[in-house]
Amino acid sequence: MIIAQLSDIHIKDDASLARLDQVLDWLSTLRPDAIAVSGDLANLSHQSNYEMLRARLETFGVPVLVVPGNVDNREAMRTVFGGPQTGPLNRVVAVADSLRLVGLDVTIPGAVHGDAAPVRDWLEHELNSGGPPALVFLHQHPFNCGMDEYETIDCRNQEALSAVIGRARDSVLGIFCGHLHRPMFARFAELPAAIAPSVAPAGKLVADGHETTTTDPPGLLVHHVKDGMLVSHMISIG
Ligand SMILES: [Fe+2]
Repeated sequence: MIIAQLSDIHIKDDASLARLDQVLDWLSTLRPDAIAVSGDLANLSHQSNYEMLRARLETFGVPVLVVPGNVDNREAMRTVFGGPQTGPLNRVVAVADSLRLVGLDVTIPGAVHGDAAPVRDWLEHELNSGGPPALVFLHQHPFNCGMDEYETIDCRNQEALSAVIGRARDSVLGIFCGHLHRPMFARFAELPAAIAPSVAPAGKLVADGHETTTTDPPGLLVHHVKDGMLVSHMISIG
């Protein structure tokens, strides 16, 4: 089972669409079994840009999960991609009855950081519903990324989220985010956790007073699930 995770597309102009199409052209050769988009789909003209993205993703003919990011418009996403009629856009997408893609909407409208508290009970119920193994997708990272200026725009109430996922650890394969435009690999609730590279230009690397600019090309994560094992590949396009 091949799950492609795109993140942080930030559609706003021709240049952003060109980067998206670079990724999708490559992805069409891989033929994934499902696609997840972990937030920050479009910066402006939300509804029309979501419709354009949906049309591109529909050409793959596979299940698609989208979760909102802080620059997204939750109501426009609801209109274009469906989901619950009110409140957070939590969603679950089944992949061939053997895998669940669980989208957790931790966004707070108007805020850059996220918060797991409002959606913790929904996730607990979903993870304990007896379904197949799950990959959990959310926008803001629920773990310390080590980059001081980004710790304040994380997903809040990480301990509560960790407890929920920890209690369902046997049915979760990994936790995957976006938001920082920088691929990172960590652990959360004793499970693999990662931030996907962005389709939009990459963010700088800042750690312990060291700082560099970056020129990463657009990228994505490719999650391979086989015999209950998860291996995640990082792909750069360009
Ligand atoms: Fe973001």
